[in-house]
Amino acid sequence: MSRFHDPPDPDFQRLNASIAFDRRLWPQDVAQSRAHARMLAERGIISGEDRDALLAGLDAVERELREESFPFADDDEDIHMAIERRLTEIAGSVGGRLHTARSRNDQVVTDLAMYVRSRSAQARERISRLMATLLARAEEHLDWPMPGYTHLQRAQPVYLSHHLLAYFWMLARDRTRFAFAQDQAGWLPLGAGALAGVNFDTDRSLLARELGFSAVAPNSIDAVSGRDFALDYLNAAATCSTHLSRLGAELVLWSSAEFGFCELPDAWSSGSSIMPQKKNPDAAEMLRAKAPRVVAHLAGLHGVLHGLPLTYNKDLQEDKEPVFDAGDTLELTLAAATGMIAGATFDRERLRDAAADELLAATDIADLLVRLGLPFREAHGIVAGLVRTAVDSGRPLSELTPQELAEHSETLADHGAEYREVLAQSSWLESKLSEGGTSLARVSEQIAKARAVLDEDARS
Ligand code: ARG
Repeated sequence: MSRFHDPPDPDFQRLNASIAFDRRLWPQDVAQSRAHARMLAERGIISGEDRDALLAGLDAVERELREESFPFADDDEDIHMAIERRLTEIAGSVGGRLHTARSRNDQVVTDLAMYVRSRSAQARERISRLMATLLARAEEHLDWPMPGYTHLQRAQPVYLSHHLLAYFWMLARDRTRFAFAQDQAGWLPLGAGALAGVNFDTDRSLLARELGFSAVAPNSIDAVSGRDFALDYLNAAATCSTHLSRLGAELVLWSSAEFGFCELPDAWSSGSSIMPQKKNPDAAEMLRAKAPRVVAHLAGLHGVLHGLPLTYNKDLQEDKEPVFDAGDTLELTLAAATGMIAGATFDRERLRDAAADELLAATDIADLLVRLGLPFREAHGIVAGLVRTAVDSGRPLSELTPQELAEHSETLADHGAEYREVLAQSSWLESKLSEGGTSLARVSEQIAKARAVLDEDARS
């Protein structure tokens, strides 16, 4: 029987159905239903016999889903109804007992929370792989000088190891964000019913334990309405994607003939359909371009939730696709980043020559003047003048004459030997001895810290 006189409009059915995408939740839905059936029997709400029939039926349903032989029907609205329909076809009318003390409202959010937990764990694993790769490449290129940039203008030299490790730390924080999202998805919604709880004395703690939740959601209204764990997941994915886009952008620049800092592995590059000489950094470009899509999913779900009255509203069906697509996109781009970093070959000479520009030592000369007693602002002005004289006359700083030095600063002219020493390339790098700086001692210290942080997550 139905309360309706008329059948649904086919376009309404299409609008209303989520089966096309939520079928991905079948492993969570089957696992949840098994736990639910066991709990119902445990509490004497269904008989042991019914429980066994339901579990056997769920096994058969799972097999079909796994082997992709599950017969989806045209009017299956979502994965929950499809599984219940099929279960009833296989096990008979007992299938109808599975939905005792459960609503699709608590069912769907339980599936999604389980999904977010497992997807967060996967993200952490893939991030760890990329972190390990960056760390290994940093160790290989420990003392390779390269220019560090601000405004994409050469600014101060750094070691390639130091630059690569910058990404390591961004990713370490991303990994923590995913661990947080995983935690936030740790409250069990199941048992909240449609919104108010159910008319049976269920055992939600048992369900929580069986399904790996850390606690039972304490408020049934919050349990069926809340999706902030999905926002947390999307936030972690959005920030991580944004980090990958910066890495992608740098790889595009670095692999160009103009920079010539690295060559990307063939396995992650494309040719051109018309220009036979081309090797295009498509994967790196995709890292750059995929990020806004993931960020849009975060903004999209905020849009769905904002101003939404409690409790369940059909709007909430729109929570799934952003999560699925963000996960797919992120995991693929993490794999691409790992492949590119693992296989990139760096050009030591190009990097060194680009870092050998003496103008990069301008700050170091200003700091020499500071050590000789001048205020930094004054020193900055003197060096700016020196740079102008050098650039205007087309000579490097080290070729300015003692008279020219004296015109800008008597103090500097008096310390000509130190001035030239500062201009020797290795000293610009090794003078960056502050904690977290680029000197070799500090980078080595950083590598030891990175090693410890990398292993931390594996233990948790
Ligand atoms: N497909 C629905 C969703 O994804 C399942 C919950 C439906 N609940 C309801 N009361 N109509 O949100």
